[in-house]
Amino acid sequence: MAKYRLAILPGDGIGKEVIEAAMIVLKRLNLDAEYIYGDIGWEFWCREGNPLPDRTIKLLKETDACLFGAITSKPKEDAARELTPELQGKGLSYVSPIVKLRQLFDLYINLRPCKAYPGNPLNYRDNIDLVIFRENTEGSYAGVEFFPLPEEVRQALMLHPKMRDFKDVPADEIAVSTRIMTKKGCERIVRAAFEYARQYKRKSVTLVEKPNVLRETGGLMLREARRVAAEYPEIRFIEANVDAMCMWLIKNPQDYDVLVAENLFGDIISDLAAQLVGGLGFACAGNIGDNYAVFEPTHGSAPKYTGLYKVNPTATLLAAKMMLDWLGEKDLAARLEGAVAEVIKEGKVRTYDMGGSAKTLDVAEAVAAKL
Ligand code: NAI
Ligand code: MG
Repeated sequence: MAKYRLAILPGDGIGKEVIEAAMIVLKRLNLDAEYIYGDIGWEFWCREGNPLPDRTIKLLKETDACLFGAITSKPKEDAARELTPELQGKGLSYVSPIVKLRQLFDLYINLRPCKAYPGNPLNYRDNIDLVIFRENTEGSYAGVEFFPLPEEVRQALMLHPKMRDFKDVPADEIAVSTRIMTKKGCERIVRAAFEYARQYKRKSVTLVEKPNVLRETGGLMLREARRVAAEYPEIRFIEANVDAMCMWLIKNPQDYDVLVAENLFGDIISDLAAQLVGGLGFACAGNIGDNYAVFEPTHGSAPKYTGLYKVNPTATLLAAKMMLDWLGEKDLAARLEGAVAEVIKEGKVRTYDMGGSAKTLDVAEAVAAKL
């Protein structure tokens, strides 16, 4: 039996192409693993009314980790229209499979490394090496929103004096969103960031929040962060407001190290940081829980490039590298990253986004050749 069982979910569009690239490299690394392909994405929504079939969830439960490509998703009305005729009018509604996976497996860490590999013409600046810990299960993405505003909810909100300003707005002219944060949720994401900083000898952890305005939720996060930070005296703890942080990340990105944030703020700063080091062709992520993890490039299915094999697979190769790290295969992870870095530095095999004309699988072959 192989040492690892790994779920491979290519998904839609270029998801299939970048996963094909990653498999070339993983196979060359000779990782002792069995790879089991699973179904996810638009095709399964249209045909079965479920983009994340139960058999795929079962597959994940029987594997050690998952490598995921990308999927297509569409607005509500379009999603309903594209269902096979037998499934229409049955009240099925599309739920993002990746969001569902995060909930089902309690993948509370969204880990987003953003490193400027030397020689990448898309680097905004040299020496950027940021690692973002985005909370993945609560915060502004917890999804509790109201429109129109139910009377009971309005009454409950009237407990807060600030709601008086809105007391006469008709129910169908007011929408309300909540940001739900728990002590446990705040504590564990901050702790994950500090543990990482300790393990990889990082200098600082920056909390990205807005506690001066979002006093209760931001306040809870700040208190928990300060409490956890005190347990790691060797690591500098920095507190920053999210708006200011967007400026600092453009001005002095090399000054920052590990960043930690609630779901929405983390989403925003991780896209900002990704663009500093080359954008979607380079941005990889790990959705990590205590018992399972799903690794992916952060881009989508890029319909306009589907079938052309022209997109950059580097994000997916780096996602595979993250998966190896998480499995504890540190040497293989380092070799894979080293090979990717070498190909970038040489600059001979570049996809269109880097100004070249190499194909997706050319990059994979070039990286494999360095192994
Ligand atoms: P996208 O990320 O698929 O592509 C946007 C553009 O970024 C592309 O047209 C291309 O110019 C560039 N790009 C993306 N990946 C690239 C790569 N590896 N190398 C070079 N250039 C790359 O976003 P878009 O077009 O907004 O969404 C397409 C579909 O993907 C939608 O259905 C959307 O819902 C879905 N999506 C899925 C995600 C996921 O699977 N996690 C994440 C984001 C979007
Ligand atoms: Mg995003």
